[in-house]
Amino acid sequence: MDLKVTARAHPNLALVKYWGNLDDAINIPANASISVNLGGATTTTSVAFLPHQERDLVTIDRRAAPPEAYGRVVRHLDRVRHLAGVSDRAVVESHNDFPAASGIASSASAFAALSLAATRAAGLELAERQLSILARKGSGSACRSIPGGFVEWLAGADDETSYARQIAPPAHWDLSVVTVILGEEAKEISSSEGHRLARTSPFYQARLDALPRTLAVVRQALLDRDWRTLGPAVEREAVSMHVVAMTSRLADRPWLSGIYYWQPGTLALIQAVQAWRRRGLEVYFTIDAGQNVHLLCRGPDQARLEGALTHLLPGLGGRYLVSTPGRGAWVAAQERI
Ligand code: DP6
Repeated sequence: MDLKVTARAHPNLALVKYWGNLDDAINIPANASISVNLGGATTTTSVAFLPHQERDLVTIDRRAAPPEAYGRVVRHLDRVRHLAGVSDRAVVESHNDFPAASGIASSASAFAALSLAATRAAGLELAERQLSILARKGSGSACRSIPGGFVEWLAGADDETSYARQIAPPAHWDLSVVTVILGEEAKEISSSEGHRLARTSPFYQARLDALPRTLAVVRQALLDRDWRTLGPAVEREAVSMHVVAMTSRLADRPWLSGIYYWQPGTLALIQAVQAWRRRGLEVYFTIDAGQNVHLLCRGPDQARLEGALTHLLPGLGGRYLVSTPGRGAWVAAQERI
């Protein structure tokens, strides 16, 4: 192999969350999920497979990857080597233009960009569906960063049927996502662990039972650009995921009664959103596996939302990042080495 390929991908924000797997080993989710790519944040990853190199070299944001991340990347490279029939070790350099562990799932953009760069560097040209399947095995939500715009991950029943596809392109709807970063420290319980523990919550099955309807409502509201249906459905869905997390059982850590991603600032923002709505600013929140809050608004309301945030943020010590719907993963550069 004599190619160095650089690929880019955006993280994505789930409007209907992925929480819990049927198969933890290859991330077959218990439910389908819907997301939008966050165009305001990008991971850039370059990969080259080199002969005579003893081990994979992985740097993330200019530092040697810590052991856990390193292991996850090497396992993913092994999947690519297996597909391509190559045995060379790789040099991987990955860079995020947004804070890792900021509540923006950097693993999604990371494994989407890695899947694209590594397959191309290994001489493979996978179709979007196959690339999404590959990315899913690195990190479940990464499969949704392969297609562009508004995306649905079809839960499927096995490896071949569990992948993401576009519902609507980025320009379909002028929406903004304002991600409020309240803290950048890594969360105590990873989403992988959250997925494994979800079934220990007495509310897990109730959530799964409600999801087909939620998915239909959110999908149709997106297609119809129906803001007043989408917003409340997205908020309630996020809270449902957190209810499952908060009531999951951590048998090995009896001092924890559940997984609480929310911090005081999280709740302050939830309350602020409701107060803003009462005053006519149509903003809705969603929260992933962390304390940070994603605020959704229509494009024309973005300036007003930023104005409202400017008053609130100094008290909370946060900052924010603005995104509009982003494209799917793409190859940024290719060079012979
Ligand atoms: C709360 O895809 O990060 O963001 O497959 O273990 O890497 P792993 O999990 P991950 O889980 C995402 C959880 C979520 C909801 C979502 O993005 O759908």
